[in-house]
Amino acid sequence: MERTYCMIKPDGVQKGLIGEIISRIERKGYKIVGMKLLQLTTAMAEEHYREHEGKSFYPGLLQYITSGPVVALVVEGKNAVKGMRALMGATNPLEAAPGTIRGDFGLDMGRNVIHGADSIESAKREIAIYFKEEELLQYDKSLDEWIYE
Ligand code: RTP
Ligand code: MG
Repeated sequence: MERTYCMIKPDGVQKGLIGEIISRIERKGYKIVGMKLLQLTTAMAEEHYREHEGKSFYPGLLQYITSGPVVALVVEGKNAVKGMRALMGATNPLEAAPGTIRGDFGLDMGRNVIHGADSIESAKREIAIYFKEEELLQYDKSLDEWIYE
C-alpha cells in the first residue's frame, strides 16, 4: 500500500469544501491515516514548496498557502500518489476535467483548492513536515474486502 500527502488549501477550507473533499477521498476507497487542521508558518511553506523557490509565482504561492487554515491529510491505498493526483485534476483549474476536485471547485491557478504530492519521494518528504510517525495510524477497515480483491 502506498501513502501520499494531500492538503486542502486555505481556499478549500474557506469555501466550506472540507467535507466534500474528504468524502470524495473516502468514496474512492482510500484510507485516511493522518489528519490535522493547521495554519502553515512561512518556514513550513518554504520547506513544502522549496522546489519552486525563485519562480515568479513563488511569493504569491507562499502568501496564499499561509493565508488561513489548511487540512493536512495522509492518504493510503493502492497507487495513492497517482490516484490522488487524478482525483485532484490538472494544476490549472481551468484545464482540470469536470469531475475532478479542481475541475469542479476552482477557476484560478493560484486558488486551486487542494495539494497532492507528485511522487512517492515527495510524499515521504512532505509527510515528515506535517506529521510525527506516531500521528499516523494503522488500522483495518472492514470495507477493504469490498475495495480490494
Ligand atoms: P501542488 O504542488 O500545489 O499540488 O500543485 P501541482 O503539483 O499541481 O503544481 P506545482 O507545479 O507543484 O505548483 C505548485 C502551486 O503553485 C501554483 N502555481 N502557479 N502561476 C503559475 O504559473 C503557477 N504555477 C504553479 C499553483 O497554485 C500550484 O498548485
Ligand atoms: Mg506540486
